[in-house]
This record gives sequence, C-alpha cells and structure tokens, in this order.
Amino acid sequence: MFLAALFLASCSVTDLVFGQPGSPWTTGDNDYYYDPLNPEDTFPVITSSSRSFSIQQGDSVILPCVVQNLEEYSLIWRHGNQILWVLQHRPDGPIVEAVSQDHRIGLNGTSLMLSRVQWKDAGTYTCELSTQPRRTLNHTLTVRVPPSVYPANNRSEVTIRIGSTVTLGCHASGYPTPTVTWTRKGGNLPGPAEGANLTVHEAVPEDNGVYKCTATNGVGKPASTSIILQVMHRPKVWAEKEEVYSGVGYEATIACYVEAEPRPQVKFYRLGDIPVDPLRLYKTFDVNNRYSLHFDHVQLSDFGYHTCNASNFIGNSSAIIRLSGRPKPVRFTSLSQGDKENTYTLVWDVESYAPVLAYIIAYRNESDGEDEGIKLTVPGTTSSSIYHSYSHNFTQLEPGATYYVQVTAKNEFGLSDVNETFTFTTFDPAGPDSPEDYDAEGEDSLSVINQYEDVVSEAVGVSQLQADPTPSMDAATSPNTPSIVAANLTEQQQIQKKVSTAEKVHDDSSGAFTFTMTPAERRGQMVALVTAISLSCFFS
Ligand SMILES: *[C@@H]1O[C@H](CO)[C@@H](O)[C@H](O)[C@H]1NC(C)=O
Ligand SMILES: *[C@@H]1O[C@H](CO)[C@@H](O)[C@H](O)[C@H]1NC(C)=O
Ligand SMILES: *[C@@H]1O[C@H](CO)[C@@H](O)[C@H](O)[C@H]1NC(C)=O
Ligand SMILES: *[C@@H]1O[C@H](CO)[C@@H](O)[C@H](O)[C@H]1NC(C)=O
Ligand SMILES: *[C@@H]1O[C@H](CO)[C@@H](O)[C@H](O)[C@H]1NC(C)=O
Ligand SMILES: *[C@@H]1O[C@H](CO)[C@@H](O)[C@H](O)[C@H]1NC(C)=O
Ligand SMILES: *[C@@H]1O[C@H](CO)[C@@H](O)[C@H](O)[C@H]1NC(C)=O
Ligand SMILES: *[C@@H]1O[C@H](CO)[C@@H](O)[C@H](O)[C@H]1NC(C)=O
Ligand SMILES: *[C@@H]1O[C@H](CO)[C@@H](O)[C@H](O)[C@H]1NC(C)=O
Ligand SMILES: *[C@@H]1O[C@H](CO)[C@@H](O)[C@H](O)[C@H]1NC(C)=O
Repeated sequence: MFLAALFLASCSVTDLVFGQPGSPWTTGDNDYYYDPLNPEDTFPVITSSSRSFSIQQGDSVILPCVVQNLEEYSLIWRHGNQILWVLQHRPDGPIVEAVSQDHRIGLNGTSLMLSRVQWKDAGTYTCELSTQPRRTLNHTLTVRVPPSVYPANNRSEVTIRIGSTVTLGCHASGYPTPTVTWTRKGGNLPGPAEGANLTVHEAVPEDNGVYKCTATNGVGKPASTSIILQVMHRPKVWAEKEEVYSGVGYEATIACYVEAEPRPQVKFYRLGDIPVDPLRLYKTFDVNNRYSLHFDHVQLSDFGYHTCNASNFIGNSSAIIRLSGRPKPVRFTSLSQGDKENTYTLVWDVESYAPVLAYIIAYRNESDGEDEGIKLTVPGTTSSSIYHSYSHNFTQLEPGATYYVQVTAKNEFGLSDVNETFTFTTFDPAGPDSPEDYDAEGEDSLSVINQYEDVVSEAVGVSQLQADPTPSMDAATSPNTPSIVAANLTEQQQIQKKVSTAEKVHDDSSGAFTFTMTPAERRGQMVALVTAISLSCFFS
C-alpha cells in the first residue's frame, strides 16, 4: 500500500503554522505522495457542502466536513489563515492536534464544533485535505450580537446652562448594526427620535429630564441607557397656598415649591426683606422641593405677607404668601330651589379663627343691574371651633323668582373674599311647564313648540348661571362695597334676543303679545303663547 508519510518527523505542527500559513503541504516536495496508479479510487471526497451559518453570540454550532476515504490523508481546519486543528496520519497511527488553544473549538469526527460563539469567531472556516490538488470546503459564519449601548463619552448626566444647545449621544454596538431611538420619561422629545444623537436647541427648564436611548437589531433584547439632562436656570417659586388662614395662638404652615438647577438657597422673609426669627420656625425640605415654615403659635405680628425667596448663581425669584387672620370665603349649604313663595332661608358656613363680627349680605333679582339690589348687615357669630354657621331669612320675595346673593364675613382682621355668588329661586305655585300638556299637530307646529321649549329651558338656565368664582381682591381693599359679580350678561342678552325674535314670529300669526319682566309672568306668557300657536296651527 501507500507509504503516506506526510511530513518529515522533524516537521512539527508549529513549523506548519509559522512556515507557510495556510498551505502546509506546499513545502517539502517529496514529503508525501499518493498512489499514482489509481488516484481516483483512493482520493478522499468531502461530502458536506459549503454553507453560511448565522449564529447568535453565545450559541454553539457544528461546521460539518464529512470526508469519505480519508485513509492516510490529513485534514486541517482553518479560520481565515489561522490553523485550528490538524488531523495527521503518521506511520505509527493518526494523531489529532489542537493548534488553537481555545477550548471552545473542538472536533467531532472531522467536523468542527464551536461553542459559546463570540463576535471574533465570525469569518470563513476552511476544511482542507492534503490531496494534490487540495480539496477544500469553506463555511462562512456570521455572529449575531445582541445590542449594547452606553452614553457617548460615558456622560450619563449632562448639565448645561439655560439657552444653550447640547447634543446627547449614545454609542450602540451589536450585529447587525442596531438602530437607536430616543424616548423621554413623561415628556416630549425636542428633536427626531431616531439616530445616535439627539440635539436640544436653546434648552429651557422644561427640557430637564431623563432621556433614554434604545438600541434594537432584532437579536436578543433591545438595550437601553439613560442620560439625565439638567438645564441650569433661575429658580421657579410658587406658593402652595397663596393665603394661609390662622388665628392668634394657633399653628400655621406656609409653604412654597421651588424648582431650580443647581440647587437653590431658599429663605423666608417678612415682606420688606425682614428675616423671620429662626428660633420660632421649623423649616422643612422634602423630596418634592417643598419648603415650609411652621409657626407653632401664631402671634399678631406674624400676620401679613411673607416671601419665599430662592436663589442660585443664575438668579433668584420669590413667591408671596399671606398669613391671614381674616375669615375664609363663605360656603353656602342651602338648596338653590326654595320651597316658599315669598321667603327663603339662606344657610352658610365660614371658617374664622376669630369671632365673626358681622355678615354683609348683598342680593338682587334678575331685573336689577349688577350694582343694584339690597345690601344688609347682620350680626356676627362666635363659635367654640373655627367653624361658624349662620342663616338669614329673606322675606317679601316674589314667587318663582331668581335671586343672586353674596355673603361676606368680617372679623377683626378684615373681610373675607367673595368666592361664590349663590343663586336661589323661590317656589313657583304655577309649577314647571310640561310639554305633554299640549297636542302637537303636524311638523310645523311641533317645530314651533320645540323652539319655544328651547327658549323656556334657556330662560330657566339663567337661574343656574354662576358668576366668576375667582376671589375678588377688591373685597379686601374696599370693605364696605362687596361687589356682586353678575351672571354672564352676553348670555342673558342672547336669551332675551331669542325671546323677542320668538315674539315677532308670534306677532305674525296671532296679534299682540307683551313680554313682561318677572320670570313667573314670563313663563305664564310662554304657556299661553305655545297654546295659542298650537291652536292657530290646528285651525288654519
Ligand atoms: C458528534 O456528532 C454526532 C453526529 O453528528 C452527534 O450525535 C454527537 O452528539 C456529536 N458529539 C458532540 C460532543 O457534540
Ligand atoms: C475556499 O477558499 C479558498 C480561499 O479562501 C479558495 O482558495 C478555495 O477555492 C475555496 N474553496 C471552495 C470549495 O470554494
Ligand atoms: C464607557 O463605559 C463602557 C462600559 O461601561 C466601557 O466599556 C467604555 O470603555 C467606557 N468608555 C469611555 C470613553 O470611558
Ligand atoms: C453624533 O455626534 C458625534 C459628535 O458629537 C459625531 O461624531 C457622530 O458622527 C454623530 N453621529 C451621528 C449618527 O450623527
Ligand atoms: C436677584 O435677582 C435680581 C434680578 O432679578 C438681581 O438684581 C439681584 O442682584 C439678585 N440677587 C441675588 C442675591 O442674587
Ligand atoms: C431674594 O433674596 C435676595 C437676598 O438674599 C434679594 O437680593 C432678592 O432681591 C430676593 N429676590 C426676590 C425676587 O425677592
Ligand atoms: C326686584 O325687582 C323689582 C322690580 O321688578 C324691584 O322693584 C326690586 O327692588 C328688585 N330687587 C329686589 C332685591 O327685590
Ligand atoms: C327663619 O325662618 C324659619 C322658619 O321658616 C325659622 O324657624 C327661623 O328661626 C328663622 N330664622 C331667623 C334667623 O329668623
Ligand atoms: C371657592 O369656590 C370653589 C368652587 O366654587 C371651591 O372649590 C373652593 O374650595 C372655594 N374656596 C374656598 C376657600 O372656600
Ligand atoms: C359669556 O357667554 C359667552 C357666550 O355664551 C361666552 O363666550 C363667554 O365665555 C361667557 N363669559 C363668561 C365670563 O362666562
């Protein structure tokens, strides 16, 4: 048979690697030979075919190289130019030598096994036989690497000055190349959401926040990292309550919220930059950036305006908080629909730490102008608690009429604000109109009736109109003229216009109709009017 001495005994594997990389058998012309008589019968054949493998990092793969009739021939596995394994036949038997010292790379028969595949394992793998000419098999291996991402320059906190422009960047890696998208916790992005860079132009404090970039390439889980952007700005200060109500000897807390970067210095002053005696105060600071001053026992001199002043090196600002002994705005508790024709009992309560000296009641009816109506003062109340409750009986009212009323409480510290205009309606013996009372004949009369129903319901709606609820500061400055806030005049005017238009429509069909001013009469006229129209339609 053959004397298949492939290599000289002195030709070690190391020589192979460093001699002529990739072609170990081109040296030593006479080092091996094969049967010249019948080469085809005895030539080894690689039965596996070339393939491309795509493996996720960390997985394993077998690169097949199945050989028939290997006999005394030898086989090597290469990765690019680097020899991994050599399978040699020597006179004294086959030897297998691992050239690469990487334990992840093994042989199973003549196939190559790769475990815990890494990014560096990608490339071409060649299974080569020592035939002449050489027979080879090439596999290509791509390694899919899940994405990873970290902030550009590893800056996960970026602090800039207000008005400046900054680019937040993320470095993403992985294979295939990941796409990077940006999101922001609880906020809008200042720029496009795609791409490694996110630019914030002319930063404002609203741009403060956590920006998250996420890298995705379809392999494994998306990766993300966050960059905190802090825009340095002048502190923003706002009062928790612009007015805090208390009484002498009671406790009180005034508080403000401060938003600032960098962290501000926060101080409380009496208005006029008088520092508050620190021994009398308990100062707190919590995570919500709430700063507060606590008065254990309020003294007379504590009442008045305080400022919460915050400053950092960019600037300063403050909020004004009033510590006040005056009563809170009055709250009404009686029902807005009265059950008597000529009287109505108005019930309210008020919080006042000091005794209430008087209540000032101002009321008017629908036909009164805003500054008309009746004003009266009733005695105040003392109470064992800060809650005071009181009522007033209105007499000589008109049935089914709507009244607007405001009540102001007065104590030694001043007048309460007017928070609310209360609306009440006296009992109407005529009762509410019921559309079922009328027979509707034909589409025309029906639509006319519907039109009148609209007018009637809007007229009723006027009684529910609420005045502007914002407290009027005027009440404090002009204590003797609590202003009555009117119901929406334009709306009233519109309704009147509608009524008079309806009147004209009616005029065309059945003669004179006079529009009276009291709601009860008006409603009565409506009923008569609708009836008349129904009848006239029926008979025409
Ligand atoms: C070697 O390959 C054979 C057949 O392909 C397979 O059954 C065996 O599990 C493999 N051995 C290893 C250690 O993977
Ligand atoms: C394998 O690749 C080598 C060069 O990298 C080339 O010489 C050889 O012909 C290839 N073999 C096959 C079967 O394509
Ligand atoms: C950033 O951090 C990553 C890992 O956290 C590290 O691999 C990389 O070298 C760092 N880059 C710089 C510029 O510090
Ligand atoms: C992101 O910005 C850096 C410099 O800050 C630049 O080198 C890089 O090319 C930019 N990347 C993209 C995708 O624009
Ligand atoms: C506070 O801000 C005003 C301008 O808003 C500035 O004139 C003043 O110097 C600032 N004071 C301090 C202590 O920073
Ligand atoms: C805040 O206090 C500083 C003194 O500490 C003062 O200069 C500044 O005017 C105050 N700012 C405001 C808005 O009151
Ligand atoms: C209500 O309206 C009548 C006129 O209809 C008027 O005389 C009266 O003074 C008005 N005001 C009050 C508060 O009753
Ligand atoms: C108001 O009238 C009710 C009866 O309607 C009466 O019980 C009550 O004492 C009166 N209140 C005042 C303050 O006059
Ligand atoms: C003022 O009125 C509004 C609603 O009209 C109410 O929510 C608020 O609590 C009132 N304020 C006071 C101090 O009573
Ligand atoms: C008054 O009514 C008009 C029309 O309905 C409306 O546009 C306006 O906002 C109202 N104003 C107030 C203060 O309610």
